[in-house]
Amino acid sequence: MKRFIHVGVGGFGRVWVNVLKQSKSAKVVGLVDVRDEALEAACQTAGYDRKICFKSLEEALSRVKADAIVTSTPPSFHRHDACSAMKAGLDAITEKPMSDSMESCRAMLKTAIETGRSCVVSQNYRYSPAMATVAQIVRSGKLGRIGQVKLDFYMGVDFHGGFRHEMPYPVIIDMAIHHFDLIRYITGLNAVAVSGAAWNPPWSNYKGNCSSTALFEMNNGARVLYNASWCAKGAFCDWNGNWQIEGEKGTLLYQKGEIRLLHAPTLYAVKREEIFPARPLKLQGQAHILHDFLRAASKGSVAPTDVRDNIQSVAMVFAAVRAMETGRKVKVLDEQTRALAGRIK
Ligand SMILES: NC(=O)c1ccc[n+]([C@@H]2O[C@H](COP(=O)([O-])OP(=O)(O)OC[C@H]3O[C@@H](n4cnc5c(N)ncnc54)[C@H](O)[C@@H]3O)[C@@H](O)[C@H]2O)c1
Repeated sequence: MKRFIHVGVGGFGRVWVNVLKQSKSAKVVGLVDVRDEALEAACQTAGYDRKICFKSLEEALSRVKADAIVTSTPPSFHRHDACSAMKAGLDAITEKPMSDSMESCRAMLKTAIETGRSCVVSQNYRYSPAMATVAQIVRSGKLGRIGQVKLDFYMGVDFHGGFRHEMPYPVIIDMAIHHFDLIRYITGLNAVAVSGAAWNPPWSNYKGNCSSTALFEMNNGARVLYNASWCAKGAFCDWNGNWQIEGEKGTLLYQKGEIRLLHAPTLYAVKREEIFPARPLKLQGQAHILHDFLRAASKGSVAPTDVRDNIQSVAMVFAAVRAMETGRKVKVLDEQTRALAGRIK
């Protein structure tokens, strides 16, 4: 049984309140939030005593014995929460994105390496039946070598204020991390370089540029074109986006739950089409992330979405931002991150 302190229990943290409560292998020994209402609501939902509530992680760490934290605070607090926990000898699970700057992400990876602790990022989009099925098909080799991918993410989303409406490049920093991580998970490829542009359509109610395009070069020479907007005007996809993955044997299309494989083994005719049902998963989303974390802890291994892997996904985010800021093509791993990644065992 692992003892958890959960930091940031309002908003999306409510998902973690339920996941931790339902787990037979986790026991929540501390709840932390800066808002009383969030603490009160979490206690009511899960039946916890108000005695386990604290206003800061430091207070919780000094008052209760725990093995790990989950942080579901806004991205700018993840570094503080995860690094404080690891330095105090605890493991950590953090909501995505790892943090809100590359410097903070590096600090988290460095702390994980130096303390030898786990720090798992909650990339739950890997663990939906649809995306897990897409990944299984592509990784089985049915498409052969991947040559190009187009991923379109168009939604109109109003969070009615909060950090996303204030941050620069909201769709890239807060959302695209799911898609960039999925690109790596599905294709098994890493990104090496990116160019891109971002802009804010006149009707956007986000301060930062809310529409973006990025072109990634992958480590096998394939290109991935990513187009995204959180202020789209009606032609919406689902949260996974619309995918077109092209390999030497055909194309896999994903759109609104439908997985369609076009077999095109020769130039350029489609021989047949196949529709795949999404394969059910025993555990989905955050419950799967918790399972990965607990499994890694019991085996002494590294979870699939630990910062040691996730640095490659989050680096795509901040490289895309650099490309958008400068108008230049940039390397995905800057020198400092490459040097740090070289220390991962
Ligand atoms: N994995 C997913 O699908 C998914 C979906 C939504 C949000 N998220 C992520 O979850 C995180 C939180 O997003 P949200 O929408 O719930 O934000 P939010 O602002 O709605 O809620 C954050 C909670 O953290 C608390 N908080 C803020 N600062 C704190 C601090 N310093 N210490 C303790 N508590 C603090 C707030 O009071 C609030 O209860 C973000 O990283 C976001 O990207 C993930």
